[in-house]
Amino acid sequence: MVYFDNSATTIPYPEVIDTFSTVARSYFANPSSLHPLGKEAEQLLNHARKKVASILAVEAKEIFFTSGGTEGNNLAIKGTARQLQKRGKHIITTSLEHSSTHDAMAELENDGFSITYLTPDMNGQVSAEQIENAITSETILVSMIHVSNELGSKQPVEETGAILRKYPKIVFHVDHVQGITKVPLSIKDASIDLCTISAHKFHGLKGNGVLYVRQGLKLSPLFSGGQQEKGFRPGTENLAGIVSLTKALRMAFDKADDKIASLKDLSTWIEREVSEIDGVVMNSPLNRAPHILNFSILHMKPEVIVQALAERDIYVSTKSACSSKNFEPSRVLSSLGFSETRASSAIRVSLSFDNTKDEAIYFVKTLKDIVSTMKKVVKV
Ligand SMILES: Cc1ncc(COP(=O)(O)O)c(C=O)c1O
Repeated sequence: MVYFDNSATTIPYPEVIDTFSTVARSYFANPSSLHPLGKEAEQLLNHARKKVASILAVEAKEIFFTSGGTEGNNLAIKGTARQLQKRGKHIITTSLEHSSTHDAMAELENDGFSITYLTPDMNGQVSAEQIENAITSETILVSMIHVSNELGSKQPVEETGAILRKYPKIVFHVDHVQGITKVPLSIKDASIDLCTISAHKFHGLKGNGVLYVRQGLKLSPLFSGGQQEKGFRPGTENLAGIVSLTKALRMAFDKADDKIASLKDLSTWIEREVSEIDGVVMNSPLNRAPHILNFSILHMKPEVIVQALAERDIYVSTKSACSSKNFEPSRVLSSLGFSETRASSAIRVSLSFDNTKDEAIYFVKTLKDIVSTMKKVVKV
């Protein structure tokens, strides 16, 4: 199998599954229970929180466990908007965002908030200057994706954080779901107030994530319920998921140290080979994240290519996993000003640290064969 769909989800590390199963079996008690079994579970939860905090170089009290990226983004965005709405109702974001951000913004717009969607350039990037120009006295939140899940383009998070230091009342949220472990980012140095990550994008399990919340910041919770996660995120904690997320984060960061460069080499090799195919246009910019490559094969249905590759045991995506079942042109690619043909024929290849050159060679050869066969069929 050649699995090149790591931005949709990654293959969980076997050690992560073992950790999940050990914790689910041995630490089944509710961390809120007062008896010794509950205390043990609570200690393990505290330990996991400290571990995640130390990996991300933040404080343990700033780590809030969630069910993943969708919840993290919703909690960050709606939680801030509802908490600060008396101060102002203007939010700045980009047209590149994942649907969990995009749709949360649309909901807030219906509730009377005014949203500025910044348009990226042809490289899929907005500038920090665009953000500063959009700020008004009513602005309460800037929410930005770090690495575009469709294009792999990187947004100027550090520069935006530096600008927002001049506006201490504006909350800065970063969706770091695709960037974590692949594109280094210091939460503290970039002056980020809220940061979303999701375990299944770094070989953890689905249904687990972290929202970093800068100390002192208050959010209006999405759910009503108990006092877990300081009331920001009520509900009995998924301890086995949380501990396995911690394991995955440690393992993925350990690999990142010496694999980021080879990941970029591998995707650059694929990029070069694929660009030679007649009808291919690259959609990802040259300075993209090392693991995501997006290209269009003009006038060919991407879903047909995805299926043809799958028949040869190769797995890639058309656009983001959440929207891949609608065959409309990609919202993100269209927002860059790409034609309908280009925005409707995109293929996304997304790698992990474990992919190899042999897999890349097989992928390129197979793709070339499929495209040339399809061209012949069309001509007949
Ligand atoms: C950039 C980005 N943000 C948020 C999410 C949502 O994460 P989850 O699948 O954990 O809900 C995704 C998932 O694809 C993503 O790519």
